[in-house]
Amino acid sequence: MLRRLHADQPSAFAFTPANQAWAEAQMTKFPEGRQASAVIPLLWRAQEQEGWLTRPAIEAVADLLGMAYIRVLEVATFYFMFQLQPVGQIAHFQICGTTTCMICGAEDLVSVCKEKIASKPHVISEDGKFSWEEVECLGACANAPMVQIGKDYYEDLTAEKFADLIDQLAAGEVPTPGSQTGRYAAEPATGLTSLQDHEAGKAAFNASVKLAVDLGDTVKRIDGSEVPLLTPWLGKVAKSKTAPKAKAKAAAKTKTAKAKAAK
Ligand code: FES
Repeated sequence: MLRRLHADQPSAFAFTPANQAWAEAQMTKFPEGRQASAVIPLLWRAQEQEGWLTRPAIEAVADLLGMAYIRVLEVATFYFMFQLQPVGQIAHFQICGTTTCMICGAEDLVSVCKEKIASKPHVISEDGKFSWEEVECLGACANAPMVQIGKDYYEDLTAEKFADLIDQLAAGEVPTPGSQTGRYAAEPATGLTSLQDHEAGKAAFNASVKLAVDLGDTVKRIDGSEVPLLTPWLGKVAKSKTAPKAKAKAAAKTKTAKAKAAK
């Protein structure tokens, strides 16, 4: 598929102050002169903020990283995770259409999208709320068919269940991600056949679903205010810079003590 910039672009892009601070912090992860290594996280953050990746956003990231626009454009057009056209205001649905999901009913899910959203992928629904596309394997094959909605996975779907999820999202709700048949994770659909001792007393959700429920950001645009900005590596750098000085000071102290003792 040819991936190119959308014909209609906004005139400008700016990270929110919190996202700008986040972006600058990511750049400190890399040695001086290697800030281009932060290109994917920064593009992703721009997309998280806007919903899709605009030309001004690509150029703003290039300016921030001191990269040529074409270099950042190459990255943005190469990876399918970057949406180069506007998406639905509430959610963009990514339907896995690879072998396992296809055998288990992905085509039915695509039909639901065509009926409820738009007849073609990457076209926004008339009410502006949704868009969809078919993607390659998303790595949840044991729970096929599945759909990525915003940032989370919805698994073990049927056409009816998927249509219901879309209705819930349209009504302003965010359905709980994970298996939609009540499977805990990727155990056999008929229940555990081994490690059954772990069945009792387990948490309400598996770790992935719990994180999604705790963060509550499945279809949220990320403005940077969601979690505190943590840069623990900066503390370590500061420490490692002061460490040689402290060592030299201690060595000088020992030398003086030895000289005194020799007298
Ligand atoms: S085939 Fe659909 S998640 Fe792998």
